[in-house]
Amino acid sequence: MIIKNIGLLVGIVPESVRLKAGSAMGSVECLRNAWLQVSHGAIEDFGPSGREPSDPETVDACGGMLMPSFCDSHTHIVYAGSRDGEFLDKLKGLSYEEIAARGGGILNSADLLHETPEDELYRQSMERVAEMTAMGTGAMEIKSGYGLRREDELKMLRVIRKILETAPAAVRATFLGAHAVGREHDRESYVNEVIAMLPEAAPLSDFVDVFCDKGFFTPEDTSSILSAAAAYGLRPKIHVDELAVTGGLEVGIAHGALSVDHLEQTGEEGIRALKGSGTMPTMLPGSSFFLGLPYGKARQFIAAGLPIALASDYNPGSSPSGDMRWVMALGCIKMRLTPEEAFNAVTLNGAYAMGLEDSCGSITRGKDARLVLTHPGWDLTKLAYQYRTPYIKRVFTK
Ligand code: NIG
Ligand code: FE
Repeated sequence: MIIKNIGLLVGIVPESVRLKAGSAMGSVECLRNAWLQVSHGAIEDFGPSGREPSDPETVDACGGMLMPSFCDSHTHIVYAGSRDGEFLDKLKGLSYEEIAARGGGILNSADLLHETPEDELYRQSMERVAEMTAMGTGAMEIKSGYGLRREDELKMLRVIRKILETAPAAVRATFLGAHAVGREHDRESYVNEVIAMLPEAAPLSDFVDVFCDKGFFTPEDTSSILSAAAAYGLRPKIHVDELAVTGGLEVGIAHGALSVDHLEQTGEEGIRALKGSGTMPTMLPGSSFFLGLPYGKARQFIAAGLPIALASDYNPGSSPSGDMRWVMALGCIKMRLTPEEAFNAVTLNGAYAMGLEDSCGSITRGKDARLVLTHPGWDLTKLAYQYRTPYIKRVFTK
């Protein structure tokens, strides 16, 4: 298939580039007036208009922008029902931590999930996948963590596996048994229980996560879980520094984390620790927005030569949206990223943060043809600036 009359082909990256860091985050290679050829679901070739190969199947882009699909490296989209009651509590002034301390929050979702049959959980989750796909997301990481007991964590991981096998997007699975302390346990016994889940959870997972934060799990808990998970080949992608700086970031780096996520409270010390680590700092501006938390200090990270990824954190408690174009706009408006930096953060760097940079996140020969075609007249600046105007004409899922 040939896509011709592309007004702007955006996000061209050589195969050797696995992420963009520091000042390189500010550049996005584009081609004006281009074509792109897809073969067997992959990007075969592209080039300037006028020299396109002939192909029986042609799509006229009518001058629209063609870009790689968004890569959302941090989501919790497998959950049951909703937490709209807590939303109303929040409007009355209760904080995220207060809701959690009253036994609400993540534990509420765990109760709902416990009662929901596996098929129904899959059905509800696939509605979110379809919503995200229509909004241009082509790759996503999905976490467990609303089970909080062995059977329910495994139920979630099986649902994620079924999504991986049936969704139009690339999917990575993360075992987040340590999302909150399960109802039947104290913290210490639950940490042991999470470790005991690993033999069954690991074969269904690509990564391991821990909510290492004030009121949830300590750096010591995190270290025990990550060490045990390493024996099963699970690399960490962990929640740190959302509510307070507790030392989880350093624990993640020491365990070779692929990413450390949230970072709302991270300062100079964390930035120093990240340098040279290969760990992708990942910020989630949708949860800063929803919870009224500070936004991550993206400018300081980039000034220090670091990369950053942005992800949606789509979940029922702190970020009930998987709209990555809006995440990109928040990156610009609230974190002062340029549209180019925000774009790299939601595409290539997001792909890196879930180990998918070989197949997703850029216009590169051989990568999956996961693409978003816009109406005519769009570019990256307009995407972030006019952030509520519909712009997608078509999505290509390989
Ligand atoms: O990433 N911070 C921890 N976990 C989720 C929230 C999950 C929930 O409240 O359901 C997050 O924000
Ligand atoms: Fe999260």
